[in-house]
Amino acid sequence: MQILVTGGAGFIGSNFVHSTVRRYPDASVTVLDALTYAGSRSSLSMAGSLVDLVEGDIADAGLVNRLVCDSDVVVHFAAETHNDNSLADPSPFLRTNIIGTYTLLQAVREHGTRYHHVSTDEVYGDLDLDDPSKFSEHTPYNPSSPYSATKAASDMLVRAWVRSFGVRATLSNCSNNYGPYQHIEKFIPRQITNILTGTRPKLYGAGKNVRDWIHVEDHNAAVWRILESGEIGRTYLIGANGELDNLSVVRMILELMDKDPDDFDHVTDRPGHDLRYAIDSSTLRNELGWRPRYNDFRAGLQATIDWYRENPTWWENDKDAVESRYQTQGA
Ligand code: NAD
Ligand code: TYD
Repeated sequence: MQILVTGGAGFIGSNFVHSTVRRYPDASVTVLDALTYAGSRSSLSMAGSLVDLVEGDIADAGLVNRLVCDSDVVVHFAAETHNDNSLADPSPFLRTNIIGTYTLLQAVREHGTRYHHVSTDEVYGDLDLDDPSKFSEHTPYNPSSPYSATKAASDMLVRAWVRSFGVRATLSNCSNNYGPYQHIEKFIPRQITNILTGTRPKLYGAGKNVRDWIHVEDHNAAVWRILESGEIGRTYLIGANGELDNLSVVRMILELMDKDPDDFDHVTDRPGHDLRYAIDSSTLRNELGWRPRYNDFRAGLQATIDWYRENPTWWENDKDAVESRYQTQGA
């Protein structure tokens, strides 16, 4: 089996590559990644010579066509992924998330290649804090930020290519992931590495916003389940019932790192900040038998803290640049 993984040098993609080479030692994995600020060769070093890393852009039609031609399956993770960056400059989000996905779709269409599209629950917009409901496959799309709007656009392209051109695609929309190899601009690793470098964690606004946390390994196990047993054209929602408000997460990180749980700063809130995300993953559970294995968030968070503590060379060169970018946003 020849698998092409786009964005395989990023957070979820690199974890996917690691679990794939463990699970399918005979599979041949090619990663296509532009190695933007969010991608790192070192995230793949554990996979060693089993993985071929091609440095290139998913919007490069010639390159994409050549790589797809040699592949049995394409798993598409590559994207611009950070909401705050999308507010500062949306243009790379339009190019990578929309034109990049279009370019891949044209290639899988030409070669009849099986395609899985990795997306986010943020395409559904947000829920009120006191609303008991959750997102399901039937929730109307209502994205809030340039990031989520471009992911929504890419999902729509996939659905249109399935219906109009018979592309053999599945889609998944997952909630917020945590775990090793996540870029330190993101909420959890930013706070862990702040504490490791003697800086106070930064909480947007009052910290009441709720995210539905899932361990990256559970997300990737679900992607494999969909690749193996999912129905072509279907969208599956992936979530592990991990709802927590940001204030509770910051306090938990501080406690697990033996600090005073009130030792953080409130900073300027994100414009248009989505209030709450929550996923109903019953279709995936009932139809495909998937279950999350990392059900203890506190234990998963402790392991994640340990990973950042034990791997400073993976992140410390990025820390100053990330924090100076946040300073210009007052965050
Ligand atoms: P990430 O930002 O850590 O990694 C993205 C990767 O894509 C990087 O390696 C980057 O170099 C690469 N890339 C960016 N532009 C590219 C281009 N034009 N051509 C080739 N490669 C390019 O992202 P992530 O958090 O691992 O997210 C992966 C996917 O999962 C994204 O599609 C994202 O929307 C989706 N997702 C993420 C989460 C989450 O919590 N992180 C949740 C649900 C869905
Ligand atoms: P983030 O990791 O950017 O993911 P997303 O915007 O896709 O949910 O942020 C997660 C939550 O944490 C979100 O509600 C914004 C908040 N946040 C902070 O409070 N402080 C921070 O320093 C960052 C980066 C995020």
